[in-house]
Amino acid sequence: MKKRILLTGGAGYIGAHTAVELILQGYDILLIDDFSKSNKALLTGIEKITNKCPSFQEGDCKDSKFLESIFSKNKFDTVIHFAAYKSVKESVQEPLLYYDNNLRSMTELLRAMNNFAVNELIFSSSCTVYGQPDVIPVDETAPFKRAESPYGATKQMCERLLEDVVLAGEKLKVISLRYFNPIGAHPSALIGELPIGVPDNLVPYVTQTAAGLREKLTIFGDDYSTPDGSCLRDFIHVMDLAQAHVSAVEKIDSMPSRNEAFNLGTGEGVSVLGLARKFIEVTGVKLNYEVGPRRPGDIEKVYANPAKAKKLLGWQTKLTLETALADAWRWQKQLA
Ligand code: UFG
Repeated sequence: MKKRILLTGGAGYIGAHTAVELILQGYDILLIDDFSKSNKALLTGIEKITNKCPSFQEGDCKDSKFLESIFSKNKFDTVIHFAAYKSVKESVQEPLLYYDNNLRSMTELLRAMNNFAVNELIFSSSCTVYGQPDVIPVDETAPFKRAESPYGATKQMCERLLEDVVLAGEKLKVISLRYFNPIGAHPSALIGELPIGVPDNLVPYVTQTAAGLREKLTIFGDDYSTPDGSCLRDFIHVMDLAQAHVSAVEKIDSMPSRNEAFNLGTGEGVSVLGLARKFIEVTGVKLNYEVGPRRPGDIEKVYANPAKAKKLLGWQTKLTLETALADAWRWQKQLA
């Protein structure tokens, strides 16, 4: 029997792409989302791609009564906890909002899982847990340096919290997936990244600028110690990322320990300027950009050593940066 899976934040960017993959692979899933940072349109997209209306309940993970009603009415084997705020910039401006939301949703969820004996958790973590790593590509054994942003600190704290809860109990199994920079969209262009208001993340800003919705892209800093002076990131296609969640669901029972973390990236560092140029090359579209000051909270350079995910999850990226940018552009064009 396939596992029954709860996806918190299931109408968000990564949640929706993962939902599609799980549905198409025959999993029985329930999505919950409070739509504070997401959009109902992605639910329609999931339905169009899969020909199946996804089971969905609207509510907030910080609301213990809501969680209790979800867990009492449904039986789950596994929870994938996507629900969190994710903007580095906003977290610097609104730290309390980030600590409150990201930590309280985690503790309430763990309490509900414990009360209803649900013992498998896949957690959306981030490469920001490493701070600025000393060794790049970074592997999972790298120490957590001081996070550069409150967003990163919430991911560090959640991972520490999970470690302690796993140690204190006997049943809970956790896989933390440390995402590098997810970009792109489903190849159908029926779901993709749908930021509310002005985007903070690079690729939606690029595509909105190319579509004429924003005047120009600002490259935040060209005085970093990187080959072209702009930050280096590991951009991973969201469909590859979605597939990693399916692997985690399949493999969580056979992990060497009850708490494992995995880097999910391509293993390749690409600069912000390099990405902007690649976008122009791939799409043939004009993109206004200029260099501006650094953005507070940014890490200079980070990219993954994804060897552990290949070995233990049997997963590696398949899609290229070119495909991701073409898919992101196709998604943007049909929005306009
Ligand atoms: N950037 C620009 N101009 C922009 C937007 C971004 O130059 O208009 C630069 C940033 O300064 C940074 C790079 O592009 O150097 C990437 O920035 P993003 O905001 O897209 O993503 P981050 O690297 O800040 O990554 C964070 C977390 C990830 C998370 C990602 C998406 O570290 O874990 O946000 O939420 F996946």
